[in-house]
Amino acid sequence: MTTKKIGIIGDGNVGGALARGLQRAGRDVRAVGDDKAAVRETAAQSEILILAVPFGALEAVAANIAAVSAGKTIIDVTNALTTEMKLALGYSTSGAEELQKKLPNARVVKAFNTQFAQHMDSGRLGDQRLTVFVAGDDAAAKGDAVDVATAIGFEAVDAGPLANARLLEPLGYLNIQLGYVLGLGTQIGMRLVRG
Ligand SMILES: NC(=O)c1ccc[n+]([C@@H]2O[C@H](COP(=O)([O-])OP(=O)(O)OC[C@H]3O[C@@H](n4cnc5c(N)ncnc54)[C@H](OP(=O)(O)O)[C@@H]3O)[C@@H](O)[C@H]2O)c1
Repeated sequence: MTTKKIGIIGDGNVGGALARGLQRAGRDVRAVGDDKAAVRETAAQSEILILAVPFGALEAVAANIAAVSAGKTIIDVTNALTTEMKLALGYSTSGAEELQKKLPNARVVKAFNTQFAQHMDSGRLGDQRLTVFVAGDDAAAKGDAVDVATAIGFEAVDAGPLANARLLEPLGYLNIQLGYVLGLGTQIGMRLVRG
């Protein structure tokens, strides 16, 4: 079991649920809300950082933590949506790749964005294990994200390089469409089935 310190920036629906799941798994985890000093202190103290803030807050958070994030695993949970709940970008880049450009010395991984917060403290929906897709360019950072996801209870699947966040972000948007626009609600989740 990893002893790495995990910091979660954002203690809302997602950050709070991930923190509960990791606490239950016995991990060293701290989640903080929109408090600049606490965010920076948490980032400085953590080896793995999970960014669970609104997409529009990423730029400010990245600027705040840039000086203390070198070499660290940064797990980007955000869905790249505008305030009108439309995809903010895609096809030729992704929110995660843009975050990596803002934090060039950190090791950014995209994960968790394709599931609803309601299942993020258990990784399960009833007796079914949900799948977290992990995209990133650094093998060790992806290993950290896989470890975090499996500790909570998810199955984790390597989804390739960080550029594949271009696929995961629209997939997260599809999940939101299904749940909130097309009437399926949040008691749904993504699960990879193997034959
Ligand atoms: N909800 C879901 O089911 C779901 C699923 C997958 C991905 N996501 C993504 O996960 C992210 C968080 O979603 P959520 O539902 O957890 O939102 P939320 O409940 O509104 O929580 C957002 C959190 O971000 C914090 N925050 C806002 N601006 C910040 C800043 N500049 N610096 C530091 N912290 C800041 C807020 O702090 P304060 O409370 O102190 O303002 C709050 O703790 C979003 O990008 C969303 O697209 C959500």
